[in-house]
Amino acid sequence: MIRFTVNGAQVETDLEPETPLLWVLRDTLKLTGTKYGCGIAQCGACTVHLDGIAMRSCQMQIGDLEGAEVATIEAQGTPEAPGPVQRAWIEHQVAQCGYCQSGQIMAAAALLAEVPDPDDAQIDDALSGNLCRCGTYPRIRAAVHRAAELMREDTQ
Ligand code: FES
Ligand code: FES
Repeated sequence: MIRFTVNGAQVETDLEPETPLLWVLRDTLKLTGTKYGCGIAQCGACTVHLDGIAMRSCQMQIGDLEGAEVATIEAQGTPEAPGPVQRAWIEHQVAQCGYCQSGQIMAAAALLAEVPDPDDAQIDDALSGNLCRCGTYPRIRAAVHRAAELMREDTQ
């Protein structure tokens, strides 16, 4: 049995240790906000947080996750109560097709947890591995700056 948490809830599974975390999130837990893009760690659509660090869930084997804390896009907020990064994304109408955006938001949230007021270079560097075929990069950058503002307002 392998045990870890996802969005604060305990997960126990006897699936094969080689099973990718992305499969467990989407197929077992029905947390379909995390997307399958390339499956080879090249696109970032499957980005989640592992102990607070942005990671590619398509390349994480559950056998390596014993005791780990995983967070997905579903932990960022809900349609009724979006979190600050999601609110910034909505304000800037970032999404085009939307497929990459869960991963973009998770990468942005991990950056903001570490660097509360990132500059453009830090944003570009942190999100450089998250591809967007719709080319929403300028809006992503603007939304990360806005999310930083909203997070500061939330803590005042
Ligand atoms: S699906 Fe994991 S990086 Fe593309
Ligand atoms: S919004 Fe379409 S791939 Fe990014």
